[in-house]
Amino acid sequence: MRVRATTDAPPATGADTIAVGVFDEEPIAHDVDGVLQALVDSGEARTALRKVAVTHAGGHRYVLAGLGNRDDFDPERARVAAAAVAGRAKELGTRRLCWEVPHHVEAPGFVEGTLLAAYEYREHKTGDDDGRRIEELIVSAHHDTSAEVERAAVATEAANAARDLQNAPANQLTPTALAERARALEGVAVEVWGREQIEAAGMGAFAAVARGSHAEPQLITIRHDPPDVAGPVLGFVGKGVTFDSGGISIKPAMKMSEMKFDMSGAAAVLEATGAIARLGLPTRVVTVIGATENLPSGHSVKPGDILRAKTGTTIEVLNTDAEGRLVLADCLAHAIEQGAERVVDLATLTGAIVTTFGNTYAGLFGSDDEWCAEVEAAGRRAGELAWRLPLHAEYSELIKSRYADIANAVEARKAGSITAAEFLRRFTGEVPWAHLDIAGTAYENGKPYTPKGGAGFGVRLLVELARANAGAPDLH
Ligand code: BES
Ligand code: MN
Ligand code: ZN
Repeated sequence: MRVRATTDAPPATGADTIAVGVFDEEPIAHDVDGVLQALVDSGEARTALRKVAVTHAGGHRYVLAGLGNRDDFDPERARVAAAAVAGRAKELGTRRLCWEVPHHVEAPGFVEGTLLAAYEYREHKTGDDDGRRIEELIVSAHHDTSAEVERAAVATEAANAARDLQNAPANQLTPTALAERARALEGVAVEVWGREQIEAAGMGAFAAVARGSHAEPQLITIRHDPPDVAGPVLGFVGKGVTFDSGGISIKPAMKMSEMKFDMSGAAAVLEATGAIARLGLPTRVVTVIGATENLPSGHSVKPGDILRAKTGTTIEVLNTDAEGRLVLADCLAHAIEQGAERVVDLATLTGAIVTTFGNTYAGLFGSDDEWCAEVEAAGRRAGELAWRLPLHAEYSELIKSRYADIANAVEARKAGSITAAEFLRRFTGEVPWAHLDIAGTAYENGKPYTPKGGAGFGVRLLVELARANAGAPDLH
């Protein structure tokens, strides 16, 4: 979808459909011969969020979209209203949609909601495509919104690209295919290591997970190194398990197909880095992805095996299904070695976080209050919410091993998400680090604008984080 901003009035934009937001108890700002107001007054068009009504006036088609109470309005409501309009626009066969941004309201939410809601993954569908697509979104406001509209469009297209990676089946989106996608990003430097280099670098934890599969694991490093930089070097680390069967500690068959989404953290950090480069944000980023399958075979890592991570820490594997933390242990250490001064990792790490927060909040953990607060604030601006949970010496106690320095799982099913974070903490040294457990938010999260499949969760958060790190002014 093409996206552009204009200060032209909606009827002059060439759009076939014009979306107009209506707040509770507020008159229509730019009516067409009283037609739109009459629709509201008759009760046919309602002002509650998500409600939409269609009419024709002055030779144009209008979709009136309820925005609720103005005092409660925020960017998230703009996304939700835009998603409702995009749904109706598709039914109407709209090709060019113009959103009239209400007075004193910011434009990005409408862009994000429209692009996210209009996303479809049709890669493997043969036939029966109705061909109904919004081809162009025009954002009309009295003032020039082109900079923020462009930024929102780039970040949201990146989120949709992450969804393509997430939704792709694991027989296609292999670790090497993920690396191919990284190489296709423009304006970044990409380095990819295979099995031999991962093993030679002493990454015994990552290598152990990869052992069970014939698919070549990939350690993908992506650098965004702009000329004029501000702020510390950011390190983005993503869990890229392209399929998690559990390994020898195999998972039940029910919903195992969803474990193709176990690379969602990798998809987010990869596409976010691409968007940051496209936007030319003046912040250095080093992104590290550990991509592998987790499969049972004659070569697989076994319960009881002891591994040596890159940092020298020894790990007893109590459960081969706790593979994400093994991959991340070496990736976190690698990101720090590569110069990251503030690290954030994204991982579909634990089922326990789904029990805790459902689909609403990602779990946020970290060693540094200020850095955690920055990550949380970026998430709030993006509408990608994170809620911090504690780390504590008593949780750290739970991961001690009888035979090695630490164990990768806790036998008693206690505080599963926190003990996973405690494990990661052992590999982050003194560097401010934040961990986002996105197992509940990354896919099938039921949001009005990302109801099904991959949600691209985290991409827009990371772009916001990079913007804030470069000292850019707050938009929302
Ligand atoms: N990828 C899973 C976590 C997961 C579970 C994501 C459900 C999305 C939905 C992870 O690798 C895993 O299997 N974690 C185990 C850890 C346990 C064995 C300590 C879990 O959460 O059960
Ligand atoms: Mn697992
Ligand atoms: Zn996993």
